[in-house]
Amino acid sequence: MSLGSDLPHGFRCLRLEEATSTNDVACGLAERGEAAGLFVVAERQTAGRGRLGRIWQSPPGNLYASLILRPDRHSLAEASTLSLVAALALAEAVELLSAGAVSPRMKWPNDVLIAGAKTAGILLEGNADATGRCAWLVIGIGVNVRWSPPEEAVPYPVTRLAAQPGLGDIEPMLLLHALTGPLRQRLAAWEEGGFAALRAAWLARAHRLGAVVEFKVGSGIIQGRFVDVDGTGAIHLERAPGGIERFTAGEIVLG
Ligand code: BTN
Repeated sequence: MSLGSDLPHGFRCLRLEEATSTNDVACGLAERGEAAGLFVVAERQTAGRGRLGRIWQSPPGNLYASLILRPDRHSLAEASTLSLVAALALAEAVELLSAGAVSPRMKWPNDVLIAGAKTAGILLEGNADATGRCAWLVIGIGVNVRWSPPEEAVPYPVTRLAAQPGLGDIEPMLLLHALTGPLRQRLAAWEEGGFAALRAAWLARAHRLGAVVEFKVGSGIIQGRFVDVDGTGAIHLERAPGGIERFTAGEIVLG
């Protein structure tokens, strides 16, 4: 099965006026055998989902896109580093679109920030086959293009592309087109060398690298100095002098 109309760099696009969640649609299509490279895009979502069970408010004006991939030479754990790769490519696309006027950063694992305020988030979902290989992966990308939640509605700073210098009022689909080049290039590098091949580029844009951060893990919040992200995509926090702990789940707290 190969749905959708053409996008640059070998991607395809299935455009919907409305979806519960583009991840729901893309996961369903992936389960039914849809080929890799399809972006499911909706103008609005009625049940947009964020990480850790959060709601992703999804009125018209923003980008809601879910990409189907089939990294079937890799385990699901290896493939999950593609969410960091997608965040890097998105940050690069936004910088290119703004002609360098903004330089987005990534907050581990995969939020995209502009001037310390959340601008985009990524929700990864996937499935493995009986041998543990990744059967399919869906990278759900939500970008505040024209709309961001009111400051009082979320416990962290938020912004939107329309409020940035050098960007102004851009079409969500223009952003998707701009994303295809950096994404294709970063996906190719990942196929060759895994996240390790992109680690340096990721770290160069890392939010608060070297600083003491609050880190949400499970239901708790811990503190530590953010010292590294390794070749597997795991974050390293120095919790006591010389005592480095490695985490594969959780998130740096923004605020
Ligand atoms: C987060 O920061 O918590 C992740 C947000 C991911 C939102 C996107 S919008 C497109 C796709 N569909 C969804 O329901 N969620 C993702």
